Order: sequence, then structure tokens, then C-alpha cells
Amino acid sequence: MDRFILEGGRPLSGTIRVNGSKNAALPLLAAALLTDEPVTLRDVPDLADIRNMLRLLAELGCGRTNGADPHPDNPDNPDAPDAPLGDPVTLHAADESRCHARYDIVRTMRASICTLGPMIARRGKARVSMPGGCAIGDRPVDLHLRGLRALGATIALEGGDIVASAPAGGRLRGATVFLGGPFGSTVLGTANVMSAATLAEGTTIIESAACEPEVVDLAALLGKMGAEISGAGSPRIVVRGVDRLHGADHAVIPDRIEAGTFLCAAAMTRGEVTIENCPIDTLLAAVDRLEHAGVSVETLGDDPLHATCRVSAPDTLRPIEVTTQPHPGFPTDLQAQFMAMLALADGNSVITERIFPERFLHVAELGRMGASLFRAGPTVVVSGVSKLTGAQVMASDLRASACLVLAGLAAEGTTIVNRVYHLDRGYAKLEERLRPLGASIVREGESA
Ligand code: EPU
Repeated sequence: MDRFILEGGRPLSGTIRVNGSKNAALPLLAAALLTDEPVTLRDVPDLADIRNMLRLLAELGCGRTNGADPHPDNPDNPDAPDAPLGDPVTLHAADESRCHARYDIVRTMRASICTLGPMIARRGKARVSMPGGCAIGDRPVDLHLRGLRALGATIALEGGDIVASAPAGGRLRGATVFLGGPFGSTVLGTANVMSAATLAEGTTIIESAACEPEVVDLAALLGKMGAEISGAGSPRIVVRGVDRLHGADHAVIPDRIEAGTFLCAAAMTRGEVTIENCPIDTLLAAVDRLEHAGVSVETLGDDPLHATCRVSAPDTLRPIEVTTQPHPGFPTDLQAQFMAMLALADGNSVITERIFPERFLHVAELGRMGASLFRAGPTVVVSGVSKLTGAQVMASDLRASACLVLAGLAAEGTTIVNRVYHLDRGYAKLEERLRPLGASIVREGESA
């Protein structure tokens, strides 16, 4: 297991480019199951989760027609861990008889659930291992199943697998589906139901749909494949089912969470950074909070999904209040990074987590670096300190890892972040991309 060694306290300065979005790319890749024609995706980030999804799709008969075929059973498998993923990625569902997403792969990546809707819709059946617990809390899939049942799917649980089939005749039926839950809507649940509805007979209305940009990007790809979808990005999505979908070519949107992480990195190291390919239009809640904290974010160019942004930090960060919410509210995936930044603000900030109320594994680790944090249920009071000090800390999930790397960049002295494989799930070669900004950060293997 690799770890990062950071020497902190250096202001970041220079230019960094945002990669394609992991959370957009995962359901986009799964959408290739909806057609027997090739689907080409550009700007797919080279991440562990993406490779796991490609492995799963290959097992489901949907392999790559260009670059490496990462199927683990392929004896000529050229997908050595160090071989780059390549761009673009073209997928072709050539064998539609294989419908079992096995536990071995699903347990490595919850987003495997994205294959469920497309498989039922196109193949009339699916068997997908039920995702288990997760470091950031209980993550049920009841809303996904509710939505697919409303479209006529029969769903049972057998031996830990979700076993689903379409009604007699093999085709789902359009329906009105309410997808709201106790914590708002569901991003991947909306992706699943919207994807399944594209091939259903009749019209589907998804009420309380997730409004996240990743859902909008999926609707854009599905539209290019021949689907008839309106309302994506709003809480009511209408899908008019069609008989078949065809191949398409699509570029993944830039990763708003990676961009937000870079914004925090610049702000808390008192740096000045230019962020290219920045989807600023999807980050308005985070920018609002940064500006309240005194950070300046200047946007250049006229494409707000691929903007260039100049971030510069104030001498003193002001404390703020942050509450995570479904989009367009403040994203839960930036909560940990903002906590690291606010640990250095001049006063008391209050952070409330309304999507995953247990998503606070970074709190104790930040405390080891001198942050002053008091947690009561879903709320953490962050009393700003004048400096963080380097320490040995343990990454426990993806965004908690990003938070610890940010803290290490700003802290005095040496920080060792263990278990950075969590970070590698969502940030490609982060250390190599931060070094040109002046960060002192190296990766070491466990045995080093
Ligand atoms: N929920 C239910 N029932 C369901 C589904 C969700 O109660 O059937 C609850 C969840 O427990 C949570 C809330 O609804 O309280 C929202 O969960 P959601 O389903 O939207 O999460 P997700 O789709 O599984 C995606 C991202 C997460 C991100 C969340 C929220 C992907 C691959 N994952 O997960 O990203 O935190 O939306 O925005 O898109 C990350 O990148 O670090 C990450 C965890």
C-alpha cells in the first residue's frame, strides 16, 4: 500500500488542469450496455474505479475495442497496472448473454450498481451483487429498486445478489416514479432508472430526480444514442421510451470535485493557482462559500463547463458555515476538503453533513495534525488554529484522503498519509500534478 510524504507550508502557484469526472464516467460507461453498437467516450480519467468498471463490463460481454482489454480472464491481458488507460475508450456490447455482476468486482466498487438498469432494459434480465457497507456510512439501494420495480421489473434477493427480470415480452413499461428518500434524491438511482426508461415501452416521469451535473451528462450521452429525455438537471425528468439505441461519441464533463479540491488547495496554502478545464458552472455553491471565506475566484473564458479560473487566497481566511445538500447545494464530496481549509480560518466555522451524516472519518485524523474540531451528530464545529503540524495519518476513504493531503500541503513539517489507494480511486496521479505547483509530495511503496 502506497503512502505520500509531504513537506508542507509552501504556497501553491502555477497552472493545473482538471481531468474528466469519475462520477460522470462510471454511469456513462455502463450506458454502453444499452446498445449493440460501439460507444466512444473521451476524457475518461485513468482511475482504479474506472478500471474496475471496465473489468466488470468486459465480464458482462462489453469489452473495449481499442486499447487494452482489461478482462482479467484474458490470457493476453495487456492491462498492466502501469499501462495508461488511453483516450478515447470505445466499448462494444458484443455478447449480451452474460448478465452477472459478481460480488468479487462489486465489493471493490459500489458504482457497479449502474449496470443494473441498463441490463434489465436491454437484456431483459440482470444479476448484480448487492453492494455492501461503505466507509462513509450506510448506503442502501432501495430507491434504485423501487424505481426499477415501478417500470415493471421483478426483483428478488438471492444469495446476496439482486436478481431482476423485465416483464413477459422482455420490455420494461414507462411509469411515474418518485425517487425522493430521507436524504434527498439519489444520483446513481436516477442514472439507473433514467437509463432503463430509455428502452421502456411508453413514457416515464422521474419525480424528485437528482439534479447533479453527472445526471445531465448521462442524459446528454443517452440523447446522442437516440434516447428522448427532457428535464435532466431538474427534479422532473421525462423519458419517452424508444425501440433501440445506437452508438455515440461523447466527451465526459470535467470533474467538479477534483476542481473544488484544487480550489481549496490554493486557498489554504495561501497560494495563487490557475485551474484549467474547470466546470465552474457546477461549483457555484462551493465558490459562494469560498468567497465568503475571503478567497478570490476569477473566471476567464466563455464556456462555464470548461473555464479557466484564477484562485487567490487572502492573508486571513474568514470562518464560514457549510451545509451539504443535493445539487445545486454544497456537495458532500467537498465537505472533508473544506474542513481541512477551515481548520486554518480565523474563528469558528460550522459544517453540517446532510447527505451522509456519518461521513466524518477525517475528523480524528485532522485532530492529530492540530485541528480543533468538535463533532455533535452531523455537525462539526471547526475552531480555526494558526497552524497545522505534520503527522502520520491514515486515509480511510476517498475524500477523507484528499482532506489529509490538503492538510499536509499546508501544515508545518512532514506529513505521511498512509493508504493512498483510497485517493487513487478518485484523483489520477495527484502527486505528479501537484509538484509543478511547488508542492513537496512524493509517493512511496509500503516497503520503502
Ligand atoms: N440513498 C437511499 N436509498 C437509495 C440510494 C441512496 O436512502 O436507494 C441515500 C444515501 O444513503 C445518501 C443519499 O441517499 O444518504 C444520497 O445518495 P446517492 O444515491 O445520491 O449516492 P450515490 O449515487 O451512491 C454518488 C457519488 C458519491 C456522492 C453521492 C452524493 C458516484 C459513483 N458516487 O453516490 O460520490 O457522494 O452521489 O452526491 O457517483 C465520491 O465520489 O467520493 C462519492 C462518494
